[in-house]
Amino acid sequence: MCGIVGYIGQRQASAICLAGLRRLEYRGYDSAGIVVVNAGRLDLHKVAGKLDSLARALERRPIAGQIGIGHTRWATHGKPSETNAHPHLSCNGRIAVVHNGIIENYQELRRQLQAAGHTFRSQTDTEVMAHLVEQHYAGDPREAVRRAVGELQGAFAFGVVCADNPGELIAVRRFSPLVVGLGDGENFIASDMGAIRAETDRVYVIGDDELCRITADRVEIIDLELRPVRHDVHVIPWPAEAAEKGGHKKFMHKEIHEQPVAMRACLAGRLSSADKPVTFEDIGLTADNIRRLRKVVFTACGTAYHAGVVGRFLMEKLARIPAETDIAAELRHRDPVVFEDTLCIVISQSGETADTLEALRTMKRKGARILGVINVVDSTIAREGDGVAYIQAGPEIGVASTKAYTLQILTIALLALHFAEVRGAASAEELRAIKAALLAAPAHAEELLRRESDVVAVARKHFQKTSALFLARGVNLASAMEGALKMKEISYIHAEAYSAGEMKHGPIALVCPDVFVVAVAPRGPTHDEMIGNIMEIKARSGPVIAVAFDGDTKVLQTGADDAAGPRDTTAQPNDMIWVPPTHEMVSPVTIAIPLQLLAYHVADLRGEHIDQPRNLAKTVTVK
Ligand code: F6R
Repeated sequence: MCGIVGYIGQRQASAICLAGLRRLEYRGYDSAGIVVVNAGRLDLHKVAGKLDSLARALERRPIAGQIGIGHTRWATHGKPSETNAHPHLSCNGRIAVVHNGIIENYQELRRQLQAAGHTFRSQTDTEVMAHLVEQHYAGDPREAVRRAVGELQGAFAFGVVCADNPGELIAVRRFSPLVVGLGDGENFIASDMGAIRAETDRVYVIGDDELCRITADRVEIIDLELRPVRHDVHVIPWPAEAAEKGGHKKFMHKEIHEQPVAMRACLAGRLSSADKPVTFEDIGLTADNIRRLRKVVFTACGTAYHAGVVGRFLMEKLARIPAETDIAAELRHRDPVVFEDTLCIVISQSGETADTLEALRTMKRKGARILGVINVVDSTIAREGDGVAYIQAGPEIGVASTKAYTLQILTIALLALHFAEVRGAASAEELRAIKAALLAAPAHAEELLRRESDVVAVARKHFQKTSALFLARGVNLASAMEGALKMKEISYIHAEAYSAGEMKHGPIALVCPDVFVVAVAPRGPTHDEMIGNIMEIKARSGPVIAVAFDGDTKVLQTGADDAAGPRDTTAQPNDMIWVPPTHEMVSPVTIAIPLQLLAYHVADLRGEHIDQPRNLAKTVTVK
C-alpha cells in the first residue's frame, strides 16, 4: 500500500519523482525515498516521516541524474524508519528497487539469499527483490528482474534501476497497480495516473505479469514468457488540475466541494429527465440477464461498503430483487449461497482494494456475474468484472473518501432504477419520484455547500468532545455509519454508529454531556421514531445535533406535548443541520455532505492532518 514512481529522460529525475510522490502520498506517508543513476553510480536519499522531510534532504544535498525511481511507504513489514524506507539496494549497491505490494514468501527467500552470502539491511519484504535481481544479474536488468519475479509469491509493482545500465528503467507488476506514462523523449512509471498527469495524458495500463523495459524513447512490454505484449494508449480523460488542490486548504475539502459537478457528470448520459428511462453504457448485462436476476450481493470495504448498505435498500425497494450487503473482508470467511443469476456488485473507488478484489474472485469462482461500481478507470477490479459502471468522480486524493461515496450511491441508484424499468418492478410514479430526486441532487449539494458556515458553527461547539454517537434508521443507517467513519478517521474522536432502534439495547449507557449525538432524522417512515430517540437522549442530558429537512417543525418541537401543555424546550436538539427536502431513498446522497463537512471542520479545529490521517492509506492493497 505504497506509491511508486519513476522517470527516464533528459530532465532531473529527482524533481519529477518528488512531484509524483506528492500526488501518491495518499497511498502511504510514513517514510519515503528517491534514487537516481548518476555517472555510473546510484545516488540515494531515504527518510523516515513525510515527504517534506525528503524534500528538505534533497534541498540540502541535491542528487543529479536523468533516470530515477521514488517511493512513499505505508509500512507492512518492518516499522517506519529510514532503514526500512525504499529504495532498497543490492549488496553491491548497484541495483535499486521500489515496491508496492507484499512478497508473501519473503522469509524463505531471505533465508536462501542469506545462505548464498547476501547481507540484509532492513526488515522489509521488499529487500529480497534487490538481492534476487543481483543474484540473477548478468548484464541485462530486464532478464534479471524476469527471473527474480519468477521466484516471488504475492502482490507487487516494482520499479528497478541499475547503475550499470543507466539507459533503462525496468518495471513489472502482479496484482498491484502500475502505469507507464508516455512523453516525448522521456517516459514515466507510477502507481496511478494522477501521479504523472502533470507530465503526460498518455499512459499504458500494465497488466499482471507484464514486464516493461523503458528507455527515454521506447517502452517495450513482454510477458514473463518473453512474448511481446501490446497495449492501446489510454488517454487520461481529466485535466492535470484535477489532481491539484485548486485553492482549497485540503484535498478533502476540495473533493467535498466538487460533488455537485461530479454528480452532474455521473448522471449525464444516463438520466436526463424524470419522464425518460435510465440508459446505461455497456455494463456487461443484457435485458434478459437483468430480468433473470434472482439475487444481488453488494460487497466492498469502508465507505464503499456504506454505499452498498444504501444499495441494498434501493435494489429491494425499486427492482424488487433480494439483496445483501457484505463487508468484503468477511465475505470469503462465509460460504455465501450463489444461485445461477446472482449478480455481485463490487464497489470500490480505487478498484485496487485487496479484500474487495478477493471478494470479487470468491464470488466469481462461485458462479456469480460481477458488476464493478468503480472510480479508477481500468483498475484491477474494473478489469476483472464482467462489466463496470464507472462513477466518474475524477481523481480522489484525500484519504477520507467523500465524492466517491455520494457518486457510488448515485450510480447504484441509477442501476436499481434501470433494473426496475427492465423488470417492470416499480410503479411509474415511484420511479419518477426517485428520478426527480436524483436530478435535483446536484442543486441540493450546491445549496448544502453554501450552508457550510452553519456546519462550522456546530463544529465549533463540539470539537473538543472525545466521543460521538451517530444514530439513524432505515436507509440512513448508512449515513450514520459513514458520518461516524468520517469523524473518527480524520478527527480521531471516537465515533460509533448505531441503528437508533438499538439505542436502548446498550448504547444509551454512553449518553452524557461529553458525548455528542448526531441524529439523522429526515422526514419519512423513520421520522417519528427518530424524534422519540432524540427525546430520550435529551432526557439524559446528551447534546444532540439533529439532521433534518428544511421546515421540519416537528423536530424543533421535540418534547412539545402535541395535544396541549407546555413545550419542553430542554428536549429540543441543541443544534440543527438543515438539508433540502428530498425523497427518503435518495436522502443519503445529500445528508452525506454536511456530515463530511462536520468531520472536516471538527478535524480542522483540532489541527489534525486531514488529508493524511494517522495509520491510514488511501488504497488498501493488502489484506
Ligand atoms: C474511508 C475510506 C475507506 C475506503 C475503503 C475502500 O474514508 O476511504 O474506508 O472507502 O478503503 O476503498 P476503495 O473504495 O478504494 O475500495
